[in-house]
Amino acid sequence: MATPYGSLTVNILKGALVKVIGFPTGRSTIGVKQSEGNKVRLTVKTHLTAKPSDGIIAKVMEVANEKCKAGVPVQFFTVQRNEAEALYGECMYDKFQVPEEIKTLTVLYMDGYNLNCVRPDVEYPNNTNAISEIKLLKMKFQTSKQQLEVQVVYTPNTSNSVPIVKASEAASENTNAKPTKEAIEPLISSTGMDMTAASTAPPAPSSDGKKQIVTPWVVSSDDGVDYDKLIRDYGSKPLSDELIQRMEKIIGQPAHPWIKRGIYFSHRDLNLMLDLYEKGTKFYLYTGRGPSSEALHLGHLLPFMFTKWLQDVFKCPLVIQLTDDEKFLWKDLALDECHRLGFENTKDIIAMGFDMKKTFIFSDLNYIQHLYPTVLEIQKRVTFNQARAIFGFTDSDNIGKQAFPAIQAAPSFSRAFKIPLKGLANMPCLIPCAIDQDPYFRMTRDVAPRMKLHKPALIHCKFFPALQGQNTKMSASAQNTAVYCTDTAKQIKKKINKHAFSGGQDTMEKQRELGANLEVDIPYQWLRFFLMDEDRLQEIATKYSSGEMLTGEVKKELIGVLQELVKNHQEKRAAVTDEMVQEFMRIRELEWES
Ligand code: TRP
Repeated sequence: MATPYGSLTVNILKGALVKVIGFPTGRSTIGVKQSEGNKVRLTVKTHLTAKPSDGIIAKVMEVANEKCKAGVPVQFFTVQRNEAEALYGECMYDKFQVPEEIKTLTVLYMDGYNLNCVRPDVEYPNNTNAISEIKLLKMKFQTSKQQLEVQVVYTPNTSNSVPIVKASEAASENTNAKPTKEAIEPLISSTGMDMTAASTAPPAPSSDGKKQIVTPWVVSSDDGVDYDKLIRDYGSKPLSDELIQRMEKIIGQPAHPWIKRGIYFSHRDLNLMLDLYEKGTKFYLYTGRGPSSEALHLGHLLPFMFTKWLQDVFKCPLVIQLTDDEKFLWKDLALDECHRLGFENTKDIIAMGFDMKKTFIFSDLNYIQHLYPTVLEIQKRVTFNQARAIFGFTDSDNIGKQAFPAIQAAPSFSRAFKIPLKGLANMPCLIPCAIDQDPYFRMTRDVAPRMKLHKPALIHCKFFPALQGQNTKMSASAQNTAVYCTDTAKQIKKKINKHAFSGGQDTMEKQRELGANLEVDIPYQWLRFFLMDEDRLQEIATKYSSGEMLTGEVKKELIGVLQELVKNHQEKRAAVTDEMVQEFMRIRELEWES
């Protein structure tokens, strides 16, 4: 017993739920029921792990009623299905599948608020002020299914006679341009808030039954991180050969070996950055470090080595954030200790060879005053529920943690660097980072359009494996899981020989016969990171996997490479003076050729 008013109420209510709770618009409507007495029941799939509070539901009702009062036109469009999917993704769909044979869709659209594929024969009032009030009757949450059921009663507005239109007819008469991708962006990007993989709630097993948890703070999986799954869960894009070639053409030199080897494997909007760059718009680079230990290990240096390469090839300015505040909130460390560690780590960072004139390194504690206006703009646009869904915060996490993500987000916007970036209000930004940092920037990208700013682009790397094997990130605290920048040649040799997990066979005979499993072999995997000579790496891969080379020989090769690298780093670091640290951290205008 559907009525036009009831059908419209469903769409208004859905828009409000998405807006306030922040789950994806697309595919989240599970059930709709209209019944006698102007009642409507809507069931939606959410990311919530607990019943939303009364306050949240009150907010939903408030937003829905505001929409009614605002008198928003309810428009209809006919769109070819493939075109709609290309423009809007899955955003217009409910949970159930629209049959394959349907090639043309009728969509209902309320200005940036709701987009929904509807049955062509259904009737609706053509303006939201056809409803004078929506009142909550009941709310139910099914924890195991994460489903929220909301029952409301609506009052049709009889004092103004809003025309009732049939969806298909209204669509055929509509001469307005269909909503653009940009207009739908807020609805699409709210799908970016569904971070199942980034939540600390138990992860859903993927199709092959593997479990993995990847958040900025925890990385764990049964047998190695499934990066394809991460790309799917996070909704980033694989770094394609085509894109790599395009980059090489633009920079006029080969891409970094880590790009070619798939260590940098995923991105967001890198293509757009290249478009802009080609047209002469420079971007700036942003990366960071959470200073939680004195001694960095090799895994810590990787993102900086890569960032240095990006700075060299794109000749762009760079800002580096030291999140001393983050480490204080998450670790059992005193605040001044975190601050001090930031300065110590800065020396290692400077030793990477960054161009002083183009690089600004800042500690959050020191620079917060300049970040704060931007932090506030971000904080105002992210709800508690969204942060919870992205980062998996629980009720017992301190409130500092909940507020922190905006502080890591803020440097993605050039307005946070009035002096270093010459007051440019909206300079595009590229962020090289490990994939575990992506949740911060999904949040950032979600708020950017609402702040009328460029979304930062990203290029993601895989994790550098621990000596003991593929399945974890290294720890700065467990000595034998990593090689440190402070290790001596002797220590390096001992660690590799004693602790590096081997994919070779147990005996020499078997190794000669079967060869090594390179996938799990740490000496080989580490060489993929640190042996830049492509031909030599290939040769080792062939010979080691066929059994011609033995584990001992590969380890020896790795030890040589690491000893050289670490020695080199130690020399460079020793040459970093306090004055240099001060200069890198001084708030000053950076230089770059435009
Ligand atoms: N949170 C990061 C860490 O713990 C540090 C960081 C801050 C960062 N801003 C960043 C890393 C931007 C990459 C990109 O190490």
